[in-house]
Amino acid sequence: MERKLIHPKSPEFSRVITGVWRWSALSTDGIEALINTSLEHGITTFDHADIYGNYSCEELFGKAIANRPALRNTIQLVTKCGIKLLSDKRPEHRIKHYDTSKEHIIRSVENSLRNLKTDYLDLLLLHRPDPLMNPAEVAEVFSKLKQSGKVLFFGVSNFTAPQVELLSSYLRDPLVTNQIEISLFYHQLLFDGTVDTLMKHQISPMAWSPLGGGKFFAENEIQKQLETFAQRYACSISQLLLAWLLRHPSGIFPILGTTNPSRLTEGAKALTVQLDKQDWFAMLKLVTGRDVA
Ligand SMILES: NC(=O)c1ccc[n+]([C@@H]2O[C@H](COP(=O)([O-])OP(=O)(O)OC[C@H]3O[C@@H](n4cnc5c(N)ncnc54)[C@H](OP(=O)(O)O)[C@@H]3O)[C@@H](O)[C@H]2O)c1
Repeated sequence: MERKLIHPKSPEFSRVITGVWRWSALSTDGIEALINTSLEHGITTFDHADIYGNYSCEELFGKAIANRPALRNTIQLVTKCGIKLLSDKRPEHRIKHYDTSKEHIIRSVENSLRNLKTDYLDLLLLHRPDPLMNPAEVAEVFSKLKQSGKVLFFGVSNFTAPQVELLSSYLRDPLVTNQIEISLFYHQLLFDGTVDTLMKHQISPMAWSPLGGGKFFAENEIQKQLETFAQRYACSISQLLLAWLLRHPSGIFPILGTTNPSRLTEGAKALTVQLDKQDWFAMLKLVTGRDVA
């Protein structure tokens, strides 16, 4: 598995990342199998959020690695904060809302550290742009967390280009990623300036739902057409969809959301598929139904 800088000033992450969003219903054995399969294929980066699985996934993951302390320095833990869910675990929340205040970010990081059974996070992301965000306050808390060694690097998720520019202008250290939805099926951000702005700042995006969240695997005309491409490249449709992202010059890091170890193995091998430029556009045309202008 290729390892790659997500930003010139960041450490290396595995080019394909394992996402734990859908892991809350899994048994301990199921979680261990996904962690082990990831590691066997060189996927060393794991994407979390405080809220995944109704605030449970970080803890499940932490328990699964608790008796393997040597693992910590060989993996990279990414987590997010800033969304407050309506939850039996958070009875004080009267409505789903965002909170990027200093107090909430610090509390959330402390919870994540405790749940993940670690004393540092490799990367902390603000999960969603918060209309009430005070960028100066975020800059202050990021500096404090970095100085304390609790968080090594910072990024954002689902931010627009102007929102990335705004927050960056307040920070001492660069944002190292913007984790955004990108797939063949949801490719708008490759065309609206979001990814171009990241490239301007040498920030590689992480792509969530790189397979469209699995919604497009049903039998249909697009699937049939993708199958013919896949046969030509001697790969699976999933690998083809990942290769479509990996072909982009921004250096996208896809996050695999599967709960199936064999699909994780398949995803890890997508890096070997080298997609031809004209096929990239042909796949785009499959979903847009038209040639580019
Ligand atoms: N920052 C954000 O706002 C945000 C939002 C959403 C997600 N994320 C992150 O991104 C990660 C990935 O998102 P995602 O789970 O939506 O990604 P995804 O990989 O696009 O979708 C995963 C889903 O697709 C299904 N799937 C995969 N291959 C399939 C196949 N060949 N046939 C049928 N179904 C298939 C999986 O089912 P099986 O489990 O059965 O394989 C799973 O339900 C999450 O874990 C999370 O870490 C971030």
